Amino acid sequence: MNEYASETATDSTDSTDPNDEPPASHFLDVDNLSDDELAEVFSTAGELKVAHRAGKPHAVLPNRTLAMLFEKPSTRTRVSFETGMTQLGGHAVYLGPDTTHLDHGEPVADTARALSRYVDAVMARVFDHDALESMAAHASVPVVNGLSDDAHPCQTLADLFTIYEQFGGFEDVEVAWVGDGNNVAQSFAVGAAMAGLDLTMATPEGYEPDDDVLARADERGCAPEVVHDPEAAVEGADVVYTDVWVSMGEEEEREAKLGDFEGFQVNDDLLAGAPEATVMHCLPAHRGEEITADVLESDRTVVWEQAENRMHTQKALLAHLLGAE
Ligand code: CP
Ligand code: NVA
Repeated sequence: MNEYASETATDSTDSTDPNDEPPASHFLDVDNLSDDELAEVFSTAGELKVAHRAGKPHAVLPNRTLAMLFEKPSTRTRVSFETGMTQLGGHAVYLGPDTTHLDHGEPVADTARALSRYVDAVMARVFDHDALESMAAHASVPVVNGLSDDAHPCQTLADLFTIYEQFGGFEDVEVAWVGDGNNVAQSFAVGAAMAGLDLTMATPEGYEPDDDVLARADERGCAPEVVHDPEAAVEGADVVYTDVWVSMGEEEEREAKLGDFEGFQVNDDLLAGAPEATVMHCLPAHRGEEITADVLESDRTVVWEQAENRMHTQKALLAHLLGAE
């Protein structure tokens, strides 16, 4: 070690030792935010959306870097985070499947500690939610869940923001979830409780959200009613929301799931019970499975608004987690 390096590392009053930093705030699921923080994120997202659409610069995170770690494919999550960081004046580094040592045996804990020495935040899309927990436990920078098998909280931010835009608030908005009770549904259930939405979820038997998710929703407002009859759930709803039946990583269960989800397709017959309902989908959609092409392409869907709002809400989340002015 030369003199210069040892002097800067130990004597400078301007430098901080990452080991002495206070613990970072993570976003592994939507209830990591308080109700006030959620409201603040939506308020910032609204301002950022207006600025973006007006072509007004809003570089509130200059020189900050986000690492984006993906174990699974993505269109929206990757591009919305990457362009979002550019618009905020920062930079994003894409780390796809088989591009890091994670796929060759380096533990998540070591990856998290190394990345923390370079970047200001890590966003990760993983198979196993425990990998995110481990990353958060070892990272000294915020870790953001870009989808795990248990949760997809960034999607929930965009979903709630889209509902707010469509209905001018959350009060008295009745939402019917139709389909699988897994990651997207689980985060949405908790977020809906925090926002005060009236949520009913129709899933086939055995595909309900986990009990601990329902308990967390209850803790933050109200657990959704879970039923097994899609028609009953949709009756009179203001919003009908669905997701794919076969999620990433479930390809081997495809045949079984297609059978189990029969009758849960969002189509014109089902929507006859909610003629005014707005239709939501996190995308990608599988036309002819969970939703018909007719419904997806109709003017009752807000799926492109949802997709756009991923970017605005995530920018607001990053601004919150990284303490932008
Ligand atoms: N909804 C969503 O997360 O889309 P991607 O898989 O394309 O990121
Ligand atoms: N439930 C889906 C969501 C995709 C955004 C999946 O996990 O593949």
